Amino acid sequence: MCGIVGYTGQRQAAPLLLEGLQRLEYRGYDSAGLALVEGDRLEVRKLAGRVAGLATAIRRQAAAGTTGIAHTRWATHGAPTERNAHPHVDCGRQIAVVHNGIIENAEALRAALEQSGHHLTTDTDTETLAHLIEDAAGDSLEARVIAALDHVEGTYGLAVVSADDPGKIVVARRGSPVLLGIGDGELFVASDASAILEYTRSVVYLDDGDIAVLTPAGYHVIDSQSHVQVRAVDDVAWDLEAIALGGYPHFMLKEISEQAETVRSTLRGRLLFEQGAARLNGLNLTPEACAAIRRIVIVACGTSWHAGLVGRHILETLARLPVEVEYASEYRYRTQLSLPGTLVVAISQSGETADTLEAMRAARAAGARVIGLVNVVGSTIAREAEGGIYLHAGPEIGVASTKAFTSQIVALALLGLFLGRQRDVLSLEAGQELACRLAQLPALVTQTLALEPEVQRVAREFVGARNFLYLGRGVSFPVALEGALKLKEISYIHAEGYPAAEMKHGPIALIDADMPVVFVAPRDDVYQKVVSNMQEVKARGGRIVAVTTEGNGELRGLAEHVFRVPATAPLLSPVLAAVPLQLLAYHIAVLRGCDVDRPRNLAKSVTVE
Ligand code: F6R
Repeated sequence: MCGIVGYTGQRQAAPLLLEGLQRLEYRGYDSAGLALVEGDRLEVRKLAGRVAGLATAIRRQAAAGTTGIAHTRWATHGAPTERNAHPHVDCGRQIAVVHNGIIENAEALRAALEQSGHHLTTDTDTETLAHLIEDAAGDSLEARVIAALDHVEGTYGLAVVSADDPGKIVVARRGSPVLLGIGDGELFVASDASAILEYTRSVVYLDDGDIAVLTPAGYHVIDSQSHVQVRAVDDVAWDLEAIALGGYPHFMLKEISEQAETVRSTLRGRLLFEQGAARLNGLNLTPEACAAIRRIVIVACGTSWHAGLVGRHILETLARLPVEVEYASEYRYRTQLSLPGTLVVAISQSGETADTLEAMRAARAAGARVIGLVNVVGSTIAREAEGGIYLHAGPEIGVASTKAFTSQIVALALLGLFLGRQRDVLSLEAGQELACRLAQLPALVTQTLALEPEVQRVAREFVGARNFLYLGRGVSFPVALEGALKLKEISYIHAEGYPAAEMKHGPIALIDADMPVVFVAPRDDVYQKVVSNMQEVKARGGRIVAVTTEGNGELRGLAEHVFRVPATAPLLSPVLAAVPLQLLAYHIAVLRGCDVDRPRNLAKSVTVE
C-alpha cells in the first residue's frame, strides 16, 4: 500500500527520504518519487519501479533540499507509470503533494478545475489536490490546504510542500494514517513509524481531521474544530532490529521462526494462574458489561478472518456466547441490526484495513460495543475501538501474515478465558488448566518449528503441483483455509481450503494423483471422522500430507507425509498446526523463485475498500 515520508531540518533530505521509502517497501508499491524544496525551487523526481532505481537516478544527478516529501505508490487511479507516480504538482510547479487514500469526487473536481483553466496531466485522483491548493485562498500554506480540503470527499493522509513557503510541510489526515516524528531541530512525517525509526522514536499520532504544520523549529496541530492543539508524544516501543532481516533470507521466514517469542509476548503479564483467568485491562469491560453481552460478532479480513473463525470455537466454548464471524467488507454493507448486548470484535494486524475499520464504524453506529484485537500500536482501529487487546507481536513486515495469526488466536483464547471467568460459565479448574496450556505454548511452538527440514523435503516434492486442497474440521477448518491462503498468495499455486466432511459434496471430483491434499488432523473429537475423509481421498488416488499430533502412529499407510505437532488443548491446536503449513507455503514459494515478502499485486496493509 502507498507510503509517505517527509523531512524538514538542517540535513539534506533526499538520502533520509530514500531510506524511509526503502523501509516502507514491504507495504507493496509499484512506483516511487520525491519532491525537494531548496530556496524557492521545487524539484520533483519520480519513476515507475523500485526505490533503488530512484536512488540511482538521484546519485547520477544530485537533488538538493533540506525539506522534502516522498512516496511509494500502489496504483488505484491510473496505471503504475512515472507520470502517475507521486508527488503531484500544480500548474505553476510550486506545490507538491503526496497522498494516501482516495479522493472520491476526483472526477467532478477534475472537470471543474479543467473548466477554470487548470491543466491536469495525470490519471490520478491526487493531482486534483495540488491544483485545488493552487487555487485556494489563504495567507499561509496551511490555510490554503485547509481551504482546498473543504472541497474534497474521500480519505487522505497527505503531505504538502511549496516553493513559496520553504522549510514547511503541511500534513493532513482523514481516514489514512500519518504520524509525525519529532527530532532535534528536525521533523519527520510518515505513514508508518518504521520509515523514521532510524532517526527518532518520538512520534505524534494524528487524529482524523487534523492538520499539522512542520518546520525545523517545531510543529503544531490544528484539529477539526480549528483549535491549535498540543498532542502527546509517544515512544515507539520496538527498535530497528525488529524490522531488519537479522540473517534470515526473508522476513516471512524470520516471522515464522519468531513465533515462540511472539506468542510469549502476547501472553506476557496476562495470565492469572491461581484465578484461572486473564488480566486484560485494555478491554475496558466491567463485570457488568461482561454480564450484559448476549452475542459476539467478529469482523475481519483475510488471515485475520481465519483467526476469527478459530475464535468462534474458542469463545463459544469458553464464554458460552453465540459468535458470528463476518467478512468485514460484507458486514458493513448489510443491514445492521441494533441488537442489545452485541460485542463486536475487530481483528486486524495492521489496524488500518479499510474494510475492517468501516465495519467497526457501522457496528458502532448501530449501538454495538466495539473492541479491537490489533498488532500495530496507535493504529486507527486501535484508537477508534472502545477497548482491546494488543497482540505485541512486533512489526510484521512480510506481506503474508504469519506471526500475527498465531498471536491473534492466543489473544482470542485470552479473551475467552477472561469472558468465561467473568461471566461465571468457565469453572476455576477449567480456567486454570487453560492458563497452563497457554503458558506452555511458546515451548511447543519451538518444538514445532523443528519440523522445518521435514517440511522442506515435502516442499521439494510438491513444488511442481498446480493445485492443492487443504482440509480440516472443527477448529482445524480455519487452519486449512489459512494454509491454502498462505500457499496461493506467495507461490501463486491455486489452493482451496474446505471443511473435510464437505469434500464429498463436490470437491471430491477433483481428487486424482495430481491433487495433493493437506489434512489438518490433530487428535481431537473429530479426528476419526477426518481419518475417514482421508480414506476417501486415498481410495481415489489422491496424495495426502497430514498435520497431526505427536505420538499418533495411525496415519502410516494413509498419508504420504505426516508432520507431527506437539499435543495441546484442542482449542489451541491451530497455533501449532498453522506452523508447518506456513513453512510449507514458504518453502514451495522459495523453490518456485517467488518474491515471498512482496508477492505480486498484494499490499501489506489494505487501506482501500
Ligand atoms: C494474508 C494477509 C491478508 C490480511 C488481511 C487483513 O496473509 O496478510 O489476508 O490478513 O489483508 O489485514 P489486517 O490483519 O492488517 O487487517
